[in-house]
Amino acid sequence: MIKIAPSILAADFANLERDIRRVEPAADWLHVDVMDGFFVPNISFGLPVLRAVRRCTELFLDVHLMVIKPERYIEAFAQAGADLLTVHLEADDPVGVAAALRRMDRCGVKKAVALRPITGAEAVLPYLEQLDMVLVMTVEPGFGGQSFLTSQLETVRRVRALIERVNPACRLEVDGGVNPVTARQVLEAGADTLVAGSAVYGAENPAAAIRALRGE
Ligand code: DX5
Ligand code: ZN
Repeated sequence: MIKIAPSILAADFANLERDIRRVEPAADWLHVDVMDGFFVPNISFGLPVLRAVRRCTELFLDVHLMVIKPERYIEAFAQAGADLLTVHLEADDPVGVAAALRRMDRCGVKKAVALRPITGAEAVLPYLEQLDMVLVMTVEPGFGGQSFLTSQLETVRRVRALIERVNPACRLEVDGGVNPVTARQVLEAGADTLVAGSAVYGAENPAAAIRALRGE
């Protein structure tokens, strides 16, 4: 089953509750982008905002940590209300990534790793067996509203093949530049979970935009 996760990075932060209500009828998950100004050049928001979002919705919260050495923050983000945490493979060495995943287990949240466009699909292999999701970035992380990198379709296909071999229950999410056209391409390449910021919040009717991504 396809899941659509609107990214609140593209919402109006002065009207965040209103913008969450706007997507609730059509969204499966809510995607929450945390940026530290080091792993990516941008700073978005952190724990207090996640807590506030948790208080205002029952939606599954898919929290994308674009943060150096994320192990330090796993417990805090789990307590703040994340249902799933994603850490970047480039944000720490393999020992640190494994430690972050162990912490997620202890905190009872679902576990995912993300790949920047530079990182090859095979990099997920040491972790794949235990993952709930792999996130393939289809833009360079850091900003909403960028153009989809078509070259990432190959990475999506490769990750899909690895998932089928090692852990078929694992979800495959894509993030960046997803619109009704690129959504078709990534779904065909094997994605089953789509993040969309501008395509949803840039639309007159965000719920209708989500349904369009689903191909309805
Ligand atoms: C980018 C973020 C994305 C962003 C996507 O670093 O991870 O989740 O919100 O925005 P769009 O859909 O506008 O590319
Ligand atoms: Zn994201």
